[in-house]
Amino acid sequence: MRKKIVAGNWKMNMVLSEGIELAKSVNKHLVEHPTEKATAVLCTPFIHLAPVAEILKDTQTGLGAQNCASEASGAYTGEISAEMIKSAGAQYVIIGHSERRSYYNEDDSLIYKKTFLALKSGLKVIFCCGEVLQEREEQIHFEVVKKQLLDGLFNLQKEDLKNIIIAYEPVWAIGTGLTASPQQAQEMHLFIRTLIQERYGKEIADETSILYGGSCKPSNAAEIFSMPDVDGGLIGGASLKKDDFCAIISAI
Ligand code: 13P
Repeated sequence: MRKKIVAGNWKMNMVLSEGIELAKSVNKHLVEHPTEKATAVLCTPFIHLAPVAEILKDTQTGLGAQNCASEASGAYTGEISAEMIKSAGAQYVIIGHSERRSYYNEDDSLIYKKTFLALKSGLKVIFCCGEVLQEREEQIHFEVVKKQLLDGLFNLQKEDLKNIIIAYEPVWAIGTGLTASPQQAQEMHLFIRTLIQERYGKEIADETSILYGGSCKPSNAAEIFSMPDVDGGLIGGASLKKDDFCAIISAI
């Protein structure tokens, strides 16, 4: 049975003290209301990682970063390596988020390099893919996602896929209040799973968690998560509010 995961992507929000408060309150809730059904993961800004790791120590809640460098180490001023993220106590890293792709010009080959290094450092990768509105309107969304997977992910070896979680995030649904319908999410998730099956076989395809992201909130999470190929969510705005994030986790 593949894992159900609800990951919060805090993006560039909250100063350190606020992040610590949020992590503590989410953690308190999850300790008091444990769920076997889903793994919760907090993906925080880099500087929050080490203190939040302390808060989450000895709990079931995972910790992740939102990006990592495309080089292992060296003279890359301002960059944060996958190994550093791991050493801060995180187990996950988001790679290929559409905000990185569009604002920082990250292309599929750079995303592949980052993914490779993150896996080598012992991190699990939450690999993001998804089309922009124009691509959906032109009905090329399946081709767009296929290319992102082929060029950004599918050079990996079969055993690497055990540490890959895919997040389908239609860009037109991110932060817009527009959510993909459960059917739109399901058909893309099934398409992604079929591509994984073609490349890596049925066993890997059946075990890979595919999360939905884009304006997921307590009011729509249960319906989206009820789709057979939707294995949880990558949550932006709603992960900044303890009650909303915890309600989304409960929706699994
Ligand atoms: P929102 O939930 O704010 O739409 O963001 C989704 C997202 O980008 C998660 O990575």
